[in-house]
Amino acid sequence: MSGAVTDPTRESTVGTAPGIFPYVSHAIALFRRPLDFLNSLPAEGDLVELRLGPRRAWILCDPQLVHQMLMDPHTFDKGGTQYDRLGALMGNGIVTCPQSEHRRQRTLLQPGFHPSRIAAYTELMAAEAEALCREWRPGGKVDVTGAMMALTTRVTSRVLFSGSLDAERAAAVRECLAEVVRGLFVRTVVPVDAVFRIPTPANRRYRGAVGRLHALIDAIIAERRSAPPREDLLGTLLAARDGTSAGDGPGHGESPRGVTDQEIHDQLLTLLLTGVETTAMCLASAFSLLAVSPEAEDALHREVDAVLPGGRAPGHDELARLEYTRCVITETLRVRPPGWLFTRITTRETELGGHRLPRGAMVLYSPYLLHHDASSFPEPERFLPERWLPERQSAVPKGAMLPFAAGNRKCIGDRFAMAEAMVGVATVAAHWRLRPASAHESRPRPAATLGPRALVMICEPRHCSHPQSNGR
Ligand code: HEM
Repeated sequence: MSGAVTDPTRESTVGTAPGIFPYVSHAIALFRRPLDFLNSLPAEGDLVELRLGPRRAWILCDPQLVHQMLMDPHTFDKGGTQYDRLGALMGNGIVTCPQSEHRRQRTLLQPGFHPSRIAAYTELMAAEAEALCREWRPGGKVDVTGAMMALTTRVTSRVLFSGSLDAERAAAVRECLAEVVRGLFVRTVVPVDAVFRIPTPANRRYRGAVGRLHALIDAIIAERRSAPPREDLLGTLLAARDGTSAGDGPGHGESPRGVTDQEIHDQLLTLLLTGVETTAMCLASAFSLLAVSPEAEDALHREVDAVLPGGRAPGHDELARLEYTRCVITETLRVRPPGWLFTRITTRETELGGHRLPRGAMVLYSPYLLHHDASSFPEPERFLPERWLPERQSAVPKGAMLPFAAGNRKCIGDRFAMAEAMVGVATVAAHWRLRPASAHESRPRPAATLGPRALVMICEPRHCSHPQSNGR
């Protein structure tokens, strides 16, 4: 692949998004046809002004400007309508907290995402993916989006709180997350609070789902207070609050200070909200893209058959050998990044690409927009996992590929998500070929995350003995 390298000496251009009618028009375009709207913006400039309701905002279309912004999180702090809404929902956890509190929170949670922990999580990811494959029947229809949400809910809840979610609670979490993710997006692009105070059915459903999620987290924490300590993420947080470290007696180990009950609640809800839906959307998108890319699907099957003979699930060591599977996930994250639009707020007057931004300016960046720019990725709409083979990766310009962002607010779960998605795709591909159930391609539907919201596929066994029929 020959990706054009952005010229660092080039002057940035500034434009205005087309179609400004006072107050509403860009919010409507962003809500109704967000992906087309985003793709139209680079033609207007490197930094494009738009209006979201009464607010002015700037969206960055040049990878270098995005990179510059992400590397200066003190000036471009979490904020803007998206993070205002997320803050109201998640409280003050690691995703929403201002930069001034970020280091302490990241230090608190980072051990749970250490590479050595990911190796251990891989085993439970594989067990859950195999269990899912056993539920399917040859020729059966599968709600792939629902199945991937079920898989990532089980994996994330086992890692966070050792599976305190029984089947009933897990189903409640999935329903609430789906409702919240839908409601969050419209609240991001329409920053007018009064609209969401009206008791419409949609507003009532959103508030109900938020209330149920909070109650669920409270119940899990309450149960764990009276149970013996466990070495999961909730265990780490409870130990930090009590001044112990997980597995040690009271008083041992150094813990980040100031962990309150409210913070434990906020961090758990934050990780559930960020960890489940994103990876499920990545997996569902991967299956939908593979189904219409026969060459990529064949290459994936060849690799899986060679590395995982007999259809066994991958262990952590095998992930390194599943090179093409990694390319499939990476290309999925390029074409359909689950995190597709983010906001920041300037904490002081500043300058970006030669353009002055006042204090309090809302700045947006979109991995989707960057990943679909033909100057970074030739034939951007094509699903070509080969782009990510080691010998070709160097052609990708810096800052052009940002599925997990960059800088110190980069996704803490990036390795976790890559392992979970690779295990999910490889385990399914070892047993099943998923065919679209209808001729209509399932278009990715942007909400708070991007992905196919209702993907139904048909399972074809790849070998005569599939996991259900051979009794495993
Ligand atoms: C394919 C799956 C995922 C994608 C595409 C993704 C993407 C992202 C992106 C783009 C950000 C930065 C947001 C911004 O710049 O405003 C982020 C942050 C974050 N993600 Fe993920 N994520 C994924 C999975 C996960 C998982 C599995 C977890 C945890 C279980 C997680 C936890 C977080 C947290 C805690 C942050 C905030 C980090 C900080 O501010 O220090 N994510 N993610």
